[in-house]
Amino acid sequence: MLIRKLNILAFSDVHAPRYLPLFIASLNAILNYSPDIIILAGDIIDHGRTNALSTVVNPLCKKFPNIPIVAIFGNEEYFDIEDKLINSYSQITWLSDSVLTLTIKGIKICIVGSRGVLEKPTPWQRKNIKGIEYMYKKRVEVLRDLLVKAKQKCEVVILVTHYAPTFITVKGEPFTAYPYLGSRSLERILRETQIDLVIHGHAHNSRVLEASLGITRIYNVALPARKGITKIEFHKVSSREETQKGLLRFLKVKGGEK
Ligand SMILES: [Fe+2]
Repeated sequence: MLIRKLNILAFSDVHAPRYLPLFIASLNAILNYSPDIIILAGDIIDHGRTNALSTVVNPLCKKFPNIPIVAIFGNEEYFDIEDKLINSYSQITWLSDSVLTLTIKGIKICIVGSRGVLEKPTPWQRKNIKGIEYMYKKRVEVLRDLLVKAKQKCEVVILVTHYAPTFITVKGEPFTAYPYLGSRSLERILRETQIDLVIHGHAHNSRVLEASLGITRIYNVALPARKGITKIEFHKVSSREETQKGLLRFLKVKGGEK
């Protein structure tokens, strides 16, 4: 049996500049730690303030240079500033109903990223985004498809969304707010696909910050709920057969056999 460890640093909902002091204090408190990847799960800025992202990303990159940063958009990273964010922060890989494949410590990882799905669109969304209900319904199908394909392709599959993909990790919020914080339709997909990790934000007042759905571990990494940045230590356990199969595949590819 082979056990490999991935250090994932994750957070959401800094709402810079609102919780920036909490973020900086938490970042400064991290000592003797080296992440393999950094994941930003949305609402890093408040009210579409594109420039505020630098107040988070600059100290982050200074402390952890050359570590891959993967981000998704939250509801505060408005649709109409997405291109500006992508163009202004090229050190970040932005995912929007898309997948990134990368190899870290010899582990092939697929990260599927999306703003996520709400069970009920907010009154603002209903008024301002035409076809929002259909968009959410369609997004569930798209994410299912991406996760199924990722499972076939990668050893480790991670889903990152801003909205909660289950109601379990929003517990502590007012019950009536649940449909505006996440959706159980993605929970059904998680039960079906059994991916490795799910990282989300948006629920600032949740008291249940971690949960399991079968083998899938779910983390709510909202900075105000956690009172800081989240360190996730993920262990990839491979059986001897899986390790041997992986080695054989590697040798075949090295030998030029497709
Ligand atoms: Fe949010």
